[in-house]
Amino acid sequence: MLDRKFLLVYHILNMSQIITIANQKGGVGKSTIALNLGAALARDKHSVFVIDADPQGTLSMWAKVRARQTSPKKDTSITITEKPWSPEEILKLTQPPDYDFIIIDCGPANNKATKATLVVSKLALIPISPSPLDINSARATIELIQEGAKRGATKVKVFLLISKRIVGTNLAKEARQACQMLKLPILKTEISQRIALCESAITGQSVLEYAPNSLAAEEFIALGKEVKRCLKQS
Ligand SMILES: Nc1ncnc2c1ncn2[C@@H]1O[C@H](COP(=O)(O)OP(=O)(O)OP(=O)(O)O)[C@@H](O)[C@H]1O
Ligand SMILES: [Mg+2]
Repeated sequence: MLDRKFLLVYHILNMSQIITIANQKGGVGKSTIALNLGAALARDKHSVFVIDADPQGTLSMWAKVRARQTSPKKDTSITITEKPWSPEEILKLTQPPDYDFIIIDCGPANNKATKATLVVSKLALIPISPSPLDINSARATIELIQEGAKRGATKVKVFLLISKRIVGTNLAKEARQACQMLKLPILKTEISQRIALCESAITGQSVLEYAPNSLAAEEFIALGKEVKRCLKQS
């Protein structure tokens, strides 16, 4: 068990805003959101460090592809871990890292890593795809977050985020209503299913680099701004 005093000092010293992206459910868009939210914050001239906390190594693999590409549009203010970090490595983040934002991408069904990240985070986003089954399975993640938050020194702000919205359907609206039973605030921004997001991932780019004028890029820019507002609110 981590000492609460240590955690308090950690939070005071640590000027980085740490954001966890978690949902025990697989494939809801966690890694896509971690990466492109990071890119949106980097576009606003912030330094961003993205920690791959998923043993599958989705974002570490993306970073390897990125390292090989030489596009002049490559944003250098975003750094991604070369390999997935273990929960122990995440908890060792005791020195204030020199980044404005640290985003942690948790894997599915990875309770230990998710709990560790919540101890050090200021904000947690739970992406939810607009399917009744997915909404219900977010409960396990919420319980984990509550458990992790009890061990942390400061209160983690938790928000649901509609992910993989299917354009032209009412599913996201219905999901919003269904999410009310989870008793957590839902971000206004919704991330839609967009082909540019899949294509950009293959090229080792963020969607903001790959298709800067796309609707997908617009949604992530809006997400970045909303996240900053949420962090500022007391
Ligand atoms: N908004 C989106 N539009 C289109 N495709 C998406 C979107 N979000 C995610 N995807 C695609 O869905 C798949 C799963 O996405 P992603 O890897 O981001 O989910 P995840 O929650 O991180 O998965 P895991 O639980 O395995 O870590 C990927 O192929 C990704 O490209
Ligand atoms: Mg992932």
